[in-house]
Amino acid sequence: MGHPVILITGSSHGIGLAAAIHLAQQKYQVYATVRNIDQCNELRRAAEKLPSLAIKQLDVADKISVRAAVKEILKETRRIDILICNAGIGFYGPTETLKDKEFKRLFNVNVFGTIRVVNAVLPNMRENRQGCIILLGSISGIAPSKNLPAYAMTKAAIESYAATTAFHLAPWNIRVKHLLPGPVVTDFEPRTPFGSRFAEDNNPYKEFLEKDRQTWKEMMDKGQSAAEVARIMQETIESDDSKPWVPTSQYVHAVAAKHFKDPTGHIRIPNGPKL
Ligand SMILES: NC(=O)c1ccc[n+]([C@@H]2O[C@H](COP(=O)([O-])OP(=O)(O)OC[C@H]3O[C@@H](n4cnc5c(N)ncnc54)[C@H](OP(=O)(O)O)[C@@H]3O)[C@@H](O)[C@H]2O)c1
Repeated sequence: MGHPVILITGSSHGIGLAAAIHLAQQKYQVYATVRNIDQCNELRRAAEKLPSLAIKQLDVADKISVRAAVKEILKETRRIDILICNAGIGFYGPTETLKDKEFKRLFNVNVFGTIRVVNAVLPNMRENRQGCIILLGSISGIAPSKNLPAYAMTKAAIESYAATTAFHLAPWNIRVKHLLPGPVVTDFEPRTPFGSRFAEDNNPYKEFLEKDRQTWKEMMDKGQSAAEVARIMQETIESDDSKPWVPTSQYVHAVAAKHFKDPTGHIRIPNGPKL
């Protein structure tokens, strides 16, 4: 058997890019997937030096693209051992400032996009009776952020999805880990737009939001590095720890401990009947 095969979504920037490079430097065959194959120069430069790093197009919002990418990878490797659902977007501001189409886009990428990719990979993992799925949640999924409430809703959905899916997939030895970063220094902040209603004249939140954005930016700038999150991903893949939650910093662990009696996520789904 060759090196374990990893598929990562959203590898053109930030955490996904750092994870793709880091894991390809270890003992993994990495398929770094990107929404736009013409806009991933840093990843391309890394792939030129790393034979174990391959790039494929995969837009999580597009069912056909997801299926085609998974099919192509399986044709080359016949298996996907580890899936990292990292692709994600944000919208800034109270829910009232987002248009319906923005809300739908957010859920389509962060929630349905994640489920689409997991569903495409599962038949192969189930056949192999093993697998590891890492889902990128966020601290804001368990302690909602006032700056990004719609985004926080998508990450809360990922928490429920991670907990229930872990339960359903355990009989096939497929582990599901919910990675919970706090602030991470990436381009996520500058790439997160205000909802379009922000610009409307009668936006009652305008002054508050402008001030708050600066505070949010300062907080994001103090975050941990994407490289550190990538190393935690590797530890998560290689550890046999059964805890469902993986807070990526002491800060997130402390926030979880304040909100929940069980900051490990261990008791979320009690033992039920075997499937
Ligand atoms: N940064 C943080 O503080 C933080 C904290 C907690 C959780 N997270 C989570 O970590 C993940 C990565 O965030 P990041 O900080 O690395 O953000 P980022 O630098 O903005 O990167 C996001 C990545 O997702 C990709 N993406 C967006 N829509 C996509 C689609 N439809 N299909 C495929 N890929 C798509 C982007 O590709 P394009 O370049 O093509 O747009 C980009 O590669 C996200 O799920 C985010 O919610 C981040």
